[in-house]
Amino acid sequence: MSWIVSETAFRSDASVANGNKYMIGNGYIGIRGTLEEHGRSELAGCTLAGLYDRVGAAWREPVNAPHAFLLRISEDGAPLGVLTAPIERHVQGIDLRSGLHFRETTFSRPHGGTVTLRCERFLSLADPHLGALRCSLRATVACRLTIETGIEGDVWDLNGPHLEHFRGSCDDGVLLLECRTHELGAAVAVAEAIVDGADGQRFDLSGNRILRRLTVGVGPEVAWDFTKVVAVFTALDNVPNPAASAVAAVRAAANTGYGPVLARSRAVWDERWAASDVRIGGDPDAQLALRYSIYQLLILAPTHSDRVSIPARGLSGQVYKGAVFWDTEIFMLPFFDHALPAVARNLLRYRYHTLDGARRKAAEYGFRGAFYAWESQETGDDACTLFNIDDVFTGRPMRTYFRDKQIHISGDVAFAIWRHFKMTGDTSLLIEGGAEIILECARFFYSYAWLKPERDRFELIDVDGPDEYHERVDNNAFTSALARETLGIALRLVDLLAASYPKFYHTLIDRLDFAPDIPRLRDLHARLFVPAPDPNTLVIEQFSGYHRLEDVTLEELKWRVLQPTEYLGGGNGLATSTKILKQADVVLMLHLFGADQPKAVKRANWHYYEPRTEHGSSLSACVYALLAAEIGDVEWAYRYFLRTATIDLVGGGKQYVGSLYIGGTHPAANGGAWMAAVLGFGGLQLRDDHLSLAPRLPRHWHSLTFRVRFRGQGFEARITPDGISVSADATNSEAGLFDLGTGVTPCEPGCSLFAPGYFIPSDVTATR
Ligand code: BGC
Repeated sequence: MSWIVSETAFRSDASVANGNKYMIGNGYIGIRGTLEEHGRSELAGCTLAGLYDRVGAAWREPVNAPHAFLLRISEDGAPLGVLTAPIERHVQGIDLRSGLHFRETTFSRPHGGTVTLRCERFLSLADPHLGALRCSLRATVACRLTIETGIEGDVWDLNGPHLEHFRGSCDDGVLLLECRTHELGAAVAVAEAIVDGADGQRFDLSGNRILRRLTVGVGPEVAWDFTKVVAVFTALDNVPNPAASAVAAVRAAANTGYGPVLARSRAVWDERWAASDVRIGGDPDAQLALRYSIYQLLILAPTHSDRVSIPARGLSGQVYKGAVFWDTEIFMLPFFDHALPAVARNLLRYRYHTLDGARRKAAEYGFRGAFYAWESQETGDDACTLFNIDDVFTGRPMRTYFRDKQIHISGDVAFAIWRHFKMTGDTSLLIEGGAEIILECARFFYSYAWLKPERDRFELIDVDGPDEYHERVDNNAFTSALARETLGIALRLVDLLAASYPKFYHTLIDRLDFAPDIPRLRDLHARLFVPAPDPNTLVIEQFSGYHRLEDVTLEELKWRVLQPTEYLGGGNGLATSTKILKQADVVLMLHLFGADQPKAVKRANWHYYEPRTEHGSSLSACVYALLAAEIGDVEWAYRYFLRTATIDLVGGGKQYVGSLYIGGTHPAANGGAWMAAVLGFGGLQLRDDHLSLAPRLPRHWHSLTFRVRFRGQGFEARITPDGISVSADATNSEAGLFDLGTGVTPCEPGCSLFAPGYFIPSDVTATR
């Protein structure tokens, strides 16, 4: 059962939440988990990865393709669907193992008896353009039902309509709807072919839809079974004619048949799960939530292209402009680096394709190097607006400084590239753009930093850290630590390239005219001020002046709120003048860059900042879980782990800020759930040349088992109260180095390491 997420009651007020919860996807397209009879009012959507459009002055956002997974049933002109007919039984769910969405609903007929509709649909992982829908109708009494299915171009949009110049056609039973995006005129083509069940159909080609209508007789002895395949191609696909490709794809798939098309997709799902599943013994609820989180990451993984990355709301819609944030590098990449490094590589290559946009942004603000977009779309130019949120009281747009001041984004990208290199041992990403990015990001920090001669140090002033409630602050600890890390990475990179790839190195340094910057980076690295723990309290001040702010409790702050969706940050925000932070900031710094900090510092900061953190961002809980596990506070770690792992199961996370809808799925939190389980409870850490494991499992977990790829080799780690074992795949070509608490030891191909028991520090339970 721990592969099925489902529910057995229909609630009309849950259709938006369920649209997120029951999403399917394959990195190319995401289909919201709405039901077949749902349309634009219920936010049915097929979000295309990487295809953006703008209408008028509204925000650019990703395009929803025409929807081909619809099926509408009526009897004597009366619709038979969840929105209109009485429901006797209902189930909706997804099978996480194979990415199959299913629903079965039994409707009562006005004249007696029931009609049961069962549907399943999937998007192929084997062929990103392909999907299929299979339905069957049964009834307890004989009745004639009218069925409508086809391709609907009237889709849900936040700032659309994005599609125009519709052209529908029908050739030998294959339907095709072609259209173009509004801004760039990019072609979008959706085709469908029937595999079986469409006898007696009539076609309706009108405006922006193309439908098949048929009337079928069903009864106790007669069922109606129907299967169709769907293909989507766009101008991004580098095919000469997207429409012809879509038609060819559905014809081929219809010949192949539903079963084999599904089987091919399943085979890829099996591979992905074999590489990425994490098994928890003794806690079925946590197991399901964690698998669901991994499922969410797998349906977003762009395996087909290195020109797209994963947006903050995945492919669940157009929220946050479908833009890519630091969420990917800091919260999702660890999963992909450990389990599916080829996907991690694609995600990082996206940053190379958008490097020129980052250069343009740096130049726009008068800086050198690469200042990555806070909200990145296909070109890397920043989609983040200067006025992101409306004030709920006045309706006026509020100036926010996410775009201008959240400079840590460049460090996030550089840091993730280096970590990928350390995990994989593969220098090819560095050669193919990664090195250039790192140098340009380091150069950006140099041009941003201020030399304070009177203190003989550089400072990063006027920045936004992860805690967006406090804008334009000086010396944000996280940002400065990350910038210093980036500089260190750039300097190590320079040494590595000069020693191992001298020709490439000299060409790159000449092309970027980087030679004069190298000593500058050394100087900045040595003299950049990074806030340190206070010698008495051990607390690191989040930014200069933070300690002078009002120290209210979160409860007190919430009492002051006048309107439930009011924004707490910005100029007049309630949190701005207080110590309440939106999300993990210093705690994240300690998780990422705290290797040299004693546990006492981590503990002091966790306990200081935890009660002051609102967790107003879905990125926050997992960080508190990670550091809690590290300091041995497993109960707290578990609490925060569950919070991050269940966010999309329970429909959590804020839905509105001001009047801005920000609902959708939360892939960063999904990545955070994986991190909390493997890096937190599993205690897996990347050291310079080896992986170390220092587990601390929740008391009721019998075991934790996960796979990890390290330096191109596959390993399985298993932790039980008896000990830690690491087994190397027999197919490995070389040993991997592991430290299970007993010193660094090679794990040879086909062999295992075992360390009996695991060390639990005596101070495990830090109470608060
Ligand atoms: C958070 C950011 C995050 C963005 C997208 C915001 O609410 O503060 O850190 O990148 O959402 O998830």
